[in-house]
Parts: sequence; C-alpha cells; structure tokens
Amino acid sequence: MNQPIKKIAVLTSGGDAPGMNAAIRAVVRACTYYRIDCVGVYRGYQGLIEGDFEQMSARHVSNVINRGGTILKSARSLEFKTKEGRVKAYENLKKEGVGALIIIGGDGTFTGGLKFIKEFDFPIVGIPGTIDNDIYGTDNTIGYDTALNTVVEVIDKIRDTASSHNRLFFIEVMGRDAGFIALNTGIGAGAEEILIPEENIGLEKLVDSLKKGREKGKTSSIVVVSEGDKIGKNVFELADYIGENYPDYDIRVSVLGHMQRGGSPSCYDRVLASRLGVAAVETLLDKKSGVMVGVTNNEVSKVGLENAIKMNHEINKELLKVAEITSI
Ligand code: F6P
Repeated sequence: MNQPIKKIAVLTSGGDAPGMNAAIRAVVRACTYYRIDCVGVYRGYQGLIEGDFEQMSARHVSNVINRGGTILKSARSLEFKTKEGRVKAYENLKKEGVGALIIIGGDGTFTGGLKFIKEFDFPIVGIPGTIDNDIYGTDNTIGYDTALNTVVEVIDKIRDTASSHNRLFFIEVMGRDAGFIALNTGIGAGAEEILIPEENIGLEKLVDSLKKGREKGKTSSIVVVSEGDKIGKNVFELADYIGENYPDYDIRVSVLGHMQRGGSPSCYDRVLASRLGVAAVETLLDKKSGVMVGVTNNEVSKVGLENAIKMNHEINKELLKVAEITSI
C-alpha cells in the first residue's frame, strides 16, 4: 500500500440489509470530501468479475439514505469462489485504476475479501451489513435495528389476533446461525418463549412453560423461533408436535421471511451506516487494510477481518434471564 489511493470502489454483497444505501452514500461522499474518485460496483463480487462499474459522484447518492435494499444490488457470486473469477476481478480493478475496495456485507462477503487480499495484496476494508447481527467486532450490524423494529411491529399485530382467538402462535424470524433477532424481538414483543440456536431449551421445557402459562391464566401465547433454532425441529414440526400431544391448543404458524430484510432504515441504522462509511474511507486513507470498521460502546472500532469472521458475536446472557422473568 505504498501508492496514494486515487480511486476507491464500493460494493454490497450477500443478503441485503436496510441501511446499506446510507453506507454507500457515506462512502461516496467521504471520497468526494477527501478528493478521491469513487466507483460503485453492481451485484457484489459478480460485478467485479464482469466489470460492472459506475463512477459515483455525491449527486448519484441523493435521496437514498431513506431507502431500503441496495442501489448497487447484491449477489452471492459462485464465480468469485474460483481463482479464475478472482483473477478477472483483480484485472478489472487494475484496468479501472481502482486502488482500494470497500465491501459491505456479512461473513461470506468478508471471507471472499480476505482471500482476495491474501492473493493480490489488494487493500480492502469491510463494513458489517446484515440483519442477523452475527458479526464479531461491532455492537450492531447495519440493518439489524430496522429488522428488530419491523419484527416487533408484526408480532404486535399477530398478538392482537392470537389473543382474540385464544391461540398459540409459533413465529419464525430470520437468523440463520444467530438468535439476536429472536431474542430481542421476543423480549420487545413480550413473547412467552424464545427459541434460539445459542440455547437449546429442549422440548420438555417448552411444553412445561406453555402449560404453566395456561395454568396461570394466559389464554394466548407467542413463541418466537429463530430459523436456526437447534431444538431439532423446524417451526412447522414444532407446531405439529405440540398439536399432536396437546390437542386443546389452537395453534398457528407464521413465517415472517424476507419482509424482515426490507423497508426504510431506522434512524439508528442510518447514523450507524453513515459513521461506518466515513470510517471505512478514512481507514483506507490511513493505509490500513484487512480490517472491518464497527461501532463498539458508541466509538468507531476496528477488528481484523479474520477475527470478524472467526470469532463469535455472543448473545447477551442477561437478556435470557430478562426474557424468563418478564414472561412469567
Ligand atoms: O441476511 C441474512 C439472512 O437474512 C439469514 O437470516 C437468512 O437465512 C438468509 O439471509 C436468507 O437469505 P437468502 O434467501 O437471500 O439466501
């Protein structure tokens, strides 16, 4: 990294998340501020391979801070997993005169970026963007706060109908390997039980807790289930199991799905994304590479991409206790 950087490329990759546009906007405008050229790469690593680039000026990112999704589009590129694909990507970056790259995404995105740095010694900085919040080295990932608010709003609505009909609802929320969304929305929406991959409560405890709820006079119940739950059954199997063994429950299942990834970002996510976009550009100008920028205890922080991928972002155990106490 001896040459001064004159042009930075930015891409979004993997699952999209609300706030990615605010991050792109901050990257583009920080480049303008520091008098560096900026190019947007469409469709993540696939666009790098195909040379799908566009010069971005400050005006290209007008009126996007409030928009969900990503204006640069996203993709999960199989070709980038091959050496040939990565060589094509490197050649396109060189041809375009790009001196550094900012990647916005989750651990799959960072894994690809790390490989690229090792092979070509190309400067890269990561920005954590995923609703799952499963990245080590930042308190929150971009999109997580918005997803929490979306899910809580929906569970509140489901509770209205659950309570009118005295029903037991199993609600599946996203989080392939992590229970952050389930745990926090479960507490926020007052769920009776929360099932997350990090904590296998077992079927017996679930049944016991539902029964106790009935005995205490609860007429309806909400169980929030993380899609990556490790209880050994998916949300439909769980509902079937309870239905077969306890026929007096009137059970319904709701899988919230991809609506959790959409929508206008919350103010928190817009500010987080703006801070991280600026920090990513400044980190590269500081001649640092192979790191992810995050916000820890309300300060901008940096962690090696390797650690961001390998280390676990632990759930807060205190929240498990809060959930248990408040669902009595
Ligand atoms: O963005 C992360 C995530 O929402 C996971 O929780 C989920 O398993 C996955 O994306 C599904 O994404 P897709 O349908 O795009 O593969």
